[in-house]
Amino acid sequence: MTHRIAIIAGDGIGTEVMPEGIRALEATAKRFNIDLEFATFEFGSCDYYLEHGKMLPDDWFEQLKGFDALFYGAVGWPDKVPDHISLWGSLLQFRRRFDQYINLRPCKLMPGIKSPLAGRKPGDIDFYVVRENTEGEYSSVGGKMFEGTDREVVIQDTVMTRTGVDRVLKYAFELAQTRPRKKLTSATKSNGISITMPYWDERVVEMAKGYPEIAVDKFHIDILTANFVLHPDWFDVVVGSNLFGDILSDLGPACTGTIGIAPSANINPEGNFPSLFEPVHGSAPDIAGKGIANPIGQIWSGAMMLEHLGYKEAGDAMVTAIEEVLSEGDATVLTRDVGGEGTTASLGKAIANAISH
Ligand code: NAI
Ligand code: MG
Repeated sequence: MTHRIAIIAGDGIGTEVMPEGIRALEATAKRFNIDLEFATFEFGSCDYYLEHGKMLPDDWFEQLKGFDALFYGAVGWPDKVPDHISLWGSLLQFRRRFDQYINLRPCKLMPGIKSPLAGRKPGDIDFYVVRENTEGEYSSVGGKMFEGTDREVVIQDTVMTRTGVDRVLKYAFELAQTRPRKKLTSATKSNGISITMPYWDERVVEMAKGYPEIAVDKFHIDILTANFVLHPDWFDVVVGSNLFGDILSDLGPACTGTIGIAPSANINPEGNFPSLFEPVHGSAPDIAGKGIANPIGQIWSGAMMLEHLGYKEAGDAMVTAIEEVLSEGDATVLTRDVGGEGTTASLGKAIANAISH
């Protein structure tokens, strides 16, 4: 079975880390006999915008919908194109039209990476944040009245649907079931937000009935953020609404060190549309063109992509290779952000080698 992957490198260091992502995927495909076929697209970048006046061609949906996954680098080059145009014109279109209602981020402290949290070592932090990616607080229901007068009023409503809440909870419970600890934490604020958040809590209780082997707890978002910092070892799978998930999915990876290594996935679990895999970082204009960007975020995103396509063992092997190279700690191989003096290519090649042997 051939898996067709659409490659969109985007801007800045996106174009530098992408070749290393592909190198690692090719090494993995060879070792595990996976048939991957890559097709490269130039759109979804600011250069494309400058030439065509838009981030994507009109028929992008038709062009991409048949792919098994999208592998993205990073988009944005604020000196050329305002960020709201580049982001809304590309990534956010994919998330919406391809109904990628799960945003998934692993938060795992890797060997050789210094956590900003004192005294934490690899193994202490290893959890996932599952964010609802399509509704909730990020709604377009609301409006403004009496603008510019003393009576000025602005309202924006949270939208939670049973379908929307249940499907993200189901995904999170299923994920917890694949993990040794089998633990799920729900982010809430039902003491203050007295309609939607109690509803969220009710749906968690309802969903939990179908997963008796999963230990479930919940925290209000304020103390939950504190506990991410104070007790990151408490967590296994953490699920939150769009806004709470957004906050937690930046805080979680931040607790595990550098932005250069964090991966993410935007998933349509049913596979009605392709899911999208990308590093958490952006195009990093400050270091672009120097060949020193850390490619691990891109490579790890590739591992998530293989797992999504059904190759868990292959994805795990990629993560193990990343861990191996990081723990060897060879300064000539590692990039500067993780204490070395190597290049994007030296680190990428070392990981590809570690995958192959
Ligand atoms: P950024 O993530 O590009 O950079 C933040 C800082 O982290 C910079 O100092 C950068 O050098 C460093 N950094 C990032 N990735 C690194 C890597 N792989 N290795 C070593 N160092 C790395 O965020 P920033 O500067 O706020 O945004 C720059 C552009 O990227 C903007 O246009 C923004 O809109 C876009 N962006 C795109 C995202 C995406 O494609 N999903 C996500 C975040 C930002
Ligand atoms: Mg965010």
